[in-house]
Amino acid sequence: MLIWNNNTDNMAVGPKAIIHLDRLRHNYNIVKTTAGGRRMMAVVKANGYGHGAVESTKALAQEGCDFFAVFTFEEAVELRDAGIEEDIFVFSRSRHETFAEAVDRHITLNISHANDVDALAGFHAETGESPKVHLKVDTGMTRLGITMEEVESVLKQIKDSEGIRCEGIYSHYATADEGDLGYANEQLKNFNNVLEIADALGIQFSIKHFSNSGSVLNLPESGFDAVRVGMLLYGAFPSDEVPAELDIKPVMEFRGPIVHVRRVSAGTQVSYGGVWTAEKETTIGVIQTGFADGFPRPWYAGGCVSYQGNRYPIAGRVCMDQLMVDFGDASPNEGEDVLFFGENETDSIRVEEIASAIGSTPYVLLTAIHGRTERKYFKPS
Ligand SMILES: Cc1ncc(COP(=O)(O)O)c(C=O)c1O
Repeated sequence: MLIWNNNTDNMAVGPKAIIHLDRLRHNYNIVKTTAGGRRMMAVVKANGYGHGAVESTKALAQEGCDFFAVFTFEEAVELRDAGIEEDIFVFSRSRHETFAEAVDRHITLNISHANDVDALAGFHAETGESPKVHLKVDTGMTRLGITMEEVESVLKQIKDSEGIRCEGIYSHYATADEGDLGYANEQLKNFNNVLEIADALGIQFSIKHFSNSGSVLNLPESGFDAVRVGMLLYGAFPSDEVPAELDIKPVMEFRGPIVHVRRVSAGTQVSYGGVWTAEKETTIGVIQTGFADGFPRPWYAGGCVSYQGNRYPIAGRVCMDQLMVDFGDASPNEGEDVLFFGENETDSIRVEEIASAIGSTPYVLLTAIHGRTERKYFKPS
């Protein structure tokens, strides 16, 4: 694992995402306490929301997390190949050809359709084995999951099929991070109805789970046996409609180097389209990071970077590989980094601030970090 230790010899020329694993562990403990100490299923899909799935999972496992969720089967295999031994759950629609490997590698799959139950029963009849599964119920998201109308028949099908190891049942909120919780409460009511039907049929699930980050904050009564949390672990609030009182810290520090500095006179036009012109003589710095690296392009209008404790406006449109900053009369140093979002000793810009300014979300901005951006894992010495 690459450990970044503030040694300038180790600095890459281009953009970097410094991942503060100590903050990830701190956030885990805060969220676990907030969720009443419940079991945590840490969501590390999409490369750990852009933070690196393997490194994030290892850090969380060291902190005691024993359940991880990914989206694709291949993401689960990647974690197993990296030596992760804790439980791993796959959210995506099960592919029946993965059953054998799921059994071998102890990967828990999702049942979201009556056909999945048939396929599992068929697999068990052939092999005498069955992967562990959780049943997904669609209580209102209208994505994967059996519908409310199908619940009773699919539950009966599970009960009557031999060898199905249905450990859990779950659902997913569509609006738990919104100010108006009316729809989320309807979904919760639906889920409770499903649990009553299962109870009446004599089916026991050892793990019932519903909560994501929004509902950990907004609907603590839906914690059930485990909470599936992603965004809060990475140190951002899922929306600006949740109470933002938890002391979570941004795990990713996204920054890029100043590669060129020059003085320009009033009236100088900067970047594509001529949408930005210097109003007076000023210092323009060129930063080697662009939208191809994950920098949020719309953030140029009204956007800024932070350098040595001060914020400076972005000058003109963000390019594919570079962006320009108006440093005014400051004297920035070539080779040093500016901060785009995250937090370090001198600078701080919350990703939520950018998301709300450009009509996006922290989910989009964090998972967009890619291209030539180099991830470096910071562990305090
Ligand atoms: C099924 C499911 N559960 C839980 C989560 C975690 O959500 P959050 O990052 O808001 O905690 C996600 C993320 O999209 C998800 O798809």
